[in-house]
Amino acid sequence: MTPSLTPQALARAGRIGIAPMEGVIDDITRECLTGLGGYDWCVTEFVRVTHVKLPPRVFKRICPELLDASPTQTARTRHETPVALQLLGADPEALGINARVAARLGAPSVDINFGCPAKTVNRHDGGAALLRSPERVFRAVEGVRKALEGTGVPVTAKIRLGFNDRRLALACAQAAEAGGATQLVVHGRTKQEGYRPPAHWEWIGKITSELSIPVVANGDIWDMHCYWRARSLSGCRDVMLGRAALADPFLAARIKHWQATGELLPETDWTQRAQVLLSHAERCAHLPDKVMVPLLKQWMNMMRQSGNAEAESRFQAIKRHKGRAEFFTGLVAGTALELAPSLLTSVTRMPEPAQVPESPQTSEADAATTPA
Ligand SMILES: Cc1cc2nc3c(=O)[nH]c(=O)nc-3n(C[C@H](O)[C@H](O)[C@H](O)COP(=O)(O)O)c2cc1C
Repeated sequence: MTPSLTPQALARAGRIGIAPMEGVIDDITRECLTGLGGYDWCVTEFVRVTHVKLPPRVFKRICPELLDASPTQTARTRHETPVALQLLGADPEALGINARVAARLGAPSVDINFGCPAKTVNRHDGGAALLRSPERVFRAVEGVRKALEGTGVPVTAKIRLGFNDRRLALACAQAAEAGGATQLVVHGRTKQEGYRPPAHWEWIGKITSELSIPVVANGDIWDMHCYWRARSLSGCRDVMLGRAALADPFLAARIKHWQATGELLPETDWTQRAQVLLSHAERCAHLPDKVMVPLLKQWMNMMRQSGNAEAESRFQAIKRHKGRAEFFTGLVAGTALELAPSLLTSVTRMPEPAQVPESPQTSEADAATTPA
């Protein structure tokens, strides 16, 4: 039974989602992060929809959690956190057909991506490109909502504040609601702003005050201070964490602790961060060094970019290491952490094809490192 909350805890309460991050947050990362606590839901990397009905294997590759879904249990991480399936596309009918496949396979909800800034995606009429036309946002959401009728699976949407400017921000949000979205995540920047700070939380507030569905604030929530500021300025109870979920893997758990008790826990120290990196590395120890070490460097880079001084100096010291033994030895130097044998023995060959992840569909990851 859920313990009853004090009025103060009730005011602080709010859900926290893990943002979809193509090429960065996959099922292994979701399992790792949700195991640390604090997260209420996650969203997959996007499945690109053109005009065809995609085969189930495409959905299962992006969302392996579907493999464990059943008629009574929708896709969840091993720690029971629901995993929404994200679609990216423009054609309402094609989106609808594929949303139905996702629902049949066990997606708890279907999310539509209206935020991707990647040039290849926008050129092919998807992601943030649709924010130039609220009518098209409406039709995409409506197409999915209609296709999901009778399945019990809701449609949600994720937008930015606009394409080149914010003039249509509210109109797009209202279009998503009118189309039938049951929740709207708003990344507080336009496509033009890429990932450059700041995220405009007060603009999210202009949307929150006009919509009846839950609006979720997203963008630049890096620590407790940002969390509360984002909530205050946006008027949102719920937030979604992207890069910070990796930069500080315990942030969500710390926020939840504060929500429940009002107590601020100390910042995550380097040993705790390194421990998460090691447990993630053990989960992907089957990958060759040339794949696995860059994945860990990418994660460490997020920790460093968020301003963690220890991550910065460690990153500088080991960023040129290519073999796992030297990389992980440098990562734990000076801590009491021990390395599992799998992190000391190099792997040079890719695993059998069944385990090989297919290459990313397009790269929002590139767009993130090279702001448009
Ligand atoms: C590398 C990378 C990949 C992303 N991939 C997706 C994606 O597949 N779908 C999506 O809706 N947003 C994607 N985003 C946007 C994030 O979900 C989020 O909106 C953005 O990073 C802002 O939140 P943050 O400041 O907490 O990171 C991606 C962002 C990054 C940095």
